[in-house]
Amino acid sequence: MAKIRDSWGTRFGIIMAVAGSAIGLGNFLRFPAKAASNGGGAFMIPYFVSFFLLGIPLMWIEWTLGRYGGGFEHGTAPGIFHSVWKKNRFIKYFGVIGIFGPLVIFIYYIYIESWTLAYSFFALFGKYTQLTDQVAMKNFLLSFQGQGNNQYFNGLGTAYAFFLITFILNIAVIYHGIKGGVEKLCKWAMPLLFIFALVLLVRVFTLGSPDAAHPGWNIFNGLGFLWNPDFSALKSAKVWLEAAGQIFFTLSVGIGVILVYASYLSKGDDVALSGLSASATNELSEVILGGSIIIPAAFAFFGPVDIKAIAQSGVFNLGFVTMPLVLNKLPLAALFGFCWFGLLFLAGITSSVSLAQPAVAFLEDEFDINRKKSVSIFGIVSFILCQPVIFFLSRGVLDEMDFWGGTFFLVIFATIEVVLFAWVFGMERAWDEIHRGADMRIPKIYKFIIKYITPFFLFFILGAWLWQEWLPIIFMQNIPPDNRPFILMTRIGLLALFLILGLLVKIAWSRKKKQLKRMR
Ligand code: ALA
Repeated sequence: MAKIRDSWGTRFGIIMAVAGSAIGLGNFLRFPAKAASNGGGAFMIPYFVSFFLLGIPLMWIEWTLGRYGGGFEHGTAPGIFHSVWKKNRFIKYFGVIGIFGPLVIFIYYIYIESWTLAYSFFALFGKYTQLTDQVAMKNFLLSFQGQGNNQYFNGLGTAYAFFLITFILNIAVIYHGIKGGVEKLCKWAMPLLFIFALVLLVRVFTLGSPDAAHPGWNIFNGLGFLWNPDFSALKSAKVWLEAAGQIFFTLSVGIGVILVYASYLSKGDDVALSGLSASATNELSEVILGGSIIIPAAFAFFGPVDIKAIAQSGVFNLGFVTMPLVLNKLPLAALFGFCWFGLLFLAGITSSVSLAQPAVAFLEDEFDINRKKSVSIFGIVSFILCQPVIFFLSRGVLDEMDFWGGTFFLVIFATIEVVLFAWVFGMERAWDEIHRGADMRIPKIYKFIIKYITPFFLFFILGAWLWQEWLPIIFMQNIPPDNRPFILMTRIGLLALFLILGLLVKIAWSRKKKQLKRMR
């Protein structure tokens, strides 16, 4: 008997869910930090080139492959890849990346998400109101993370409590399935997120020059700081890699989650317009909202000299140190602080529930375990895996996971997907498949782009990256010697996780083979 897979309720629901997966911490923290430190406005050139040549094609590819695989009751990459290339016995193992990557991102992402929940409450109850400079706010963050002295928090207890709440909330949403959990959440969380972002945007744009002694420290010069192009940055391969990496991360492509979401569509559902709408919503929120809040506001309060150091100080400092300081200086600071961290939390949870889907769908589809049991297994395993990130944060475990799960494997996975789609499935068939039930015609030039330009661009990025960075990374040259044992353990752990997932794929396929034999 064919099993009944979950499905989406409405078209608006799935677009909100995919936009929810895409719009995340990457839009409001990672993007402004990357743009400001990689050439400002000039960064937008490699960024938009990557958007049109990698982001949009991959969005369409993943929506189409996902819907195609769903037709064979496969929602995750091993099964989808196998459906596309039935003759190849090994291709399913490449699909392991599409479960491994999102699981690894989930493990660290959810911890950061829990900080945003904690800070929403800190803002509302004035826990950091008395802090007025970068050093004090940074100490507050370190103390919260259990890395500094106990001046503000006694050990890791508070952070751990918020982690538990965030974790339980995520599991509760996933437990209720696609229509009953993810879609319901995204349908109210996404509009609310936009309201929070608009409130902040209006507040930032009406700041004027908040420091009377420095009239030049205003929002317009702040926007200028972010957007004035430094074209010399375009000569650096690193800037191009960063831009491409940001496109992958922000659109959630190359991860494996969109495959799963799209697998719950019906055969005749549109993917062309839906994929484009979800991408456009993400870009609007990233470039317009993400680009207009944190950096211009910080410029208006800290001026042109300090902003440089602030922009380079990393994503966490921007979000959890600079922004609360800025908002602290405003009337109704508690309310705006709550809006900021509430915005980040909504952006985070609508992304993290999507990151959990591949592992859960894999258990459901390939082992015929029902959703509730699959979610319980996922919950226990991912909870255990989160612990090293929490307890060894200062040792760089989170960054290491971000590198493998959130950067390196995305490019590899995307390369496999595009080659499979355009060359194995075949571009003519692929083109028909994209347009099945489509509400728009994709410009023909994309046939050429998907077949030649996207794979070439991906191979180029991979090659340039291997050339520039491979050896120092493998030999941990940029890692302080004290942290190396922790990083080595993380790598061994990740390798073990990958191999276990590979073994599960093998077991699942042998089981199915036996079942088929018995039926004959
Ligand atoms: N796409 C998600 C983000 O931007 C992962 O945070």
